[in-house]
Amino acid sequence: MSPVIPVKELFGKLADGTEVHRWSLANGGTRMTVLSYGGIVQSLEIPDRNGDYANVSLGFGSLEEYVASSPYFGALIGRFGNRIAKGRYTLDGETHELPVNDGENSLHGGTGGFDKRVWDVEPFTSGADAGLVLTYTSADGEMGYPGTLTAKVTYTLTADGDWRIDYEATTDKATVVNLTNHVYWNLAGEGSGSVHDHELEIAASRYTPVDSGLIPTGELAEVAGTPFDFRRTKTVGEDLRVADQQLLYAQGFDHNLVLDKGVTAEPKHFATLKDPASGRTLKIATTEPGVQFYSGNFLDGTLVGTAGRIYRQGDALCLETQHYPDSPNQPEFPSTLLHPGETYRSTTVHSFNA
Ligand code: BGC
Repeated sequence: MSPVIPVKELFGKLADGTEVHRWSLANGGTRMTVLSYGGIVQSLEIPDRNGDYANVSLGFGSLEEYVASSPYFGALIGRFGNRIAKGRYTLDGETHELPVNDGENSLHGGTGGFDKRVWDVEPFTSGADAGLVLTYTSADGEMGYPGTLTAKVTYTLTADGDWRIDYEATTDKATVVNLTNHVYWNLAGEGSGSVHDHELEIAASRYTPVDSGLIPTGELAEVAGTPFDFRRTKTVGEDLRVADQQLLYAQGFDHNLVLDKGVTAEPKHFATLKDPASGRTLKIATTEPGVQFYSGNFLDGTLVGTAGRIYRQGDALCLETQHYPDSPNQPEFPSTLLHPGETYRSTTVHSFNA
């Protein structure tokens, strides 16, 4: 069966009158809606073992709620995912100041990151695939980052129902780039309660411990004997209450795991997340060397989600594929530098079954 071209509808208007559209895609048993604002995955529906669908991604029903205060639900993150210490880094002898928005640090591209931009969106079908190409040009100096950065992100739903993300970027001046997507997963369905019973496996023997501001200390520590050891499947909740200083700093898991696979040219499997009750299972493959495993610690009962239910601590988790946090200040970490003439590329594939 040939895939259906994604369709668009008006979702809302920003304060300045800019229209925001919502795109609906379906292929291979997966359905999703995507906003031109922030490239946000507003919903992602997959079946359970009985064929019953649930929306497994946290979000909101209206544009106003996304604009008012969203902890990056489903959003594209850039120009630099995760934290840059004190909102400052030096490149070719020049120091760049970034807006700080997380204590004294800059998080997820600053106060006006890619999650708050309106992207150009073009639908496509190609062979058995259906998808969207999202483009955004970030001006030289935007949010303190040098160079005009042209970003192109392709969301593809494959014939098997996989959601694949291909990121590409080019620049006209040396800059730093670290793009990711911030979907909050709850495989039992958003708004249904905590994910502490979800089973998780991550192929990472090391992680990057952090200071109290969640900036990596620079050490690559072994996960063996710590709550961060997900090499053998365990539930998200099993070690969440271990009195470990790292968990105290973050009120749970909010750490970059160093994937054993390292940087790869092709996406390689590194994580499996399963909701045993519904059978819904997510497998993730990436080209990236790290993943931020965030256990939804700062969801605090102040937001009402898509289904009209309140989100509380631990009601979802994120697995944000990335280069390590604060890489621009940590010369030992894999480089996030991008020079003119080079193309930044990153791919992450989410596969579902039940
Ligand atoms: C960060 C968390 C943050 C969350 C939402 C994650 O990527 O690591 O500390 O609370 O994003 O902003």
